[in-house]
Amino acid sequence: MELKNSNTLQNLAKAFAGECQANARYVFISEIAKGQGLQEVGCALDAIAKNELFHAKTFYNAIASCGEIPNIEINGGYPFKETTDLLSDLKNAADNEYNESTSIYPGFADEADKEGFADIANRFRLAAKVEDCHMKLLCDIRNQLTDGSLYKRPSPVKWKCENCGHETTANEAPEICPLCGSKQGYVKLILSDS
Ligand SMILES: [Fe+2]
Ligand SMILES: [Fe+2]
Repeated sequence: MELKNSNTLQNLAKAFAGECQANARYVFISEIAKGQGLQEVGCALDAIAKNELFHAKTFYNAIASCGEIPNIEINGGYPFKETTDLLSDLKNAADNEYNESTSIYPGFADEADKEGFADIANRFRLAAKVEDCHMKLLCDIRNQLTDGSLYKRPSPVKWKCENCGHETTANEAPEICPLCGSKQGYVKLILSDS
């Protein structure tokens, strides 16, 4: 089967559209976090946004291997749920990542295998793994924001200012960096997978 005539081409176009949306949504949520003084949370979201852009690129490149295609009609979901409430934005984003990693991309991968596109199936499966990491990261950040542990721990830990590199070991991250004067939001996140 030629990719041009396959369901996999449709799935690639859906994945491309979904990744472009995800990229934009993470940039929006990052702006919300930074607007609340949570610079490093914003940077974590920027890093996810960059991943989504490169996912978009790999799916786009697979489509482009067919040569020029005037248009691909697709049906997709376009929810508009982002608000200024960071916690609900993180929850919605984690839910989307969960759906991508457990159902959407594995389904696309199986269909690509059936149609004889092993390389594309592999890309869907590799992307699903990354989306699972995104989901865990988003949940971790959301949990830390909810239980107050983002910059406060029951026993001393090492905190590092991401602007000047100053490190200190304490229960709580300094509200103002004693070396450069940066606010607490610039202190490096302590994440469960790092
Ligand atoms: Fe992605
Ligand atoms: Fe993702």
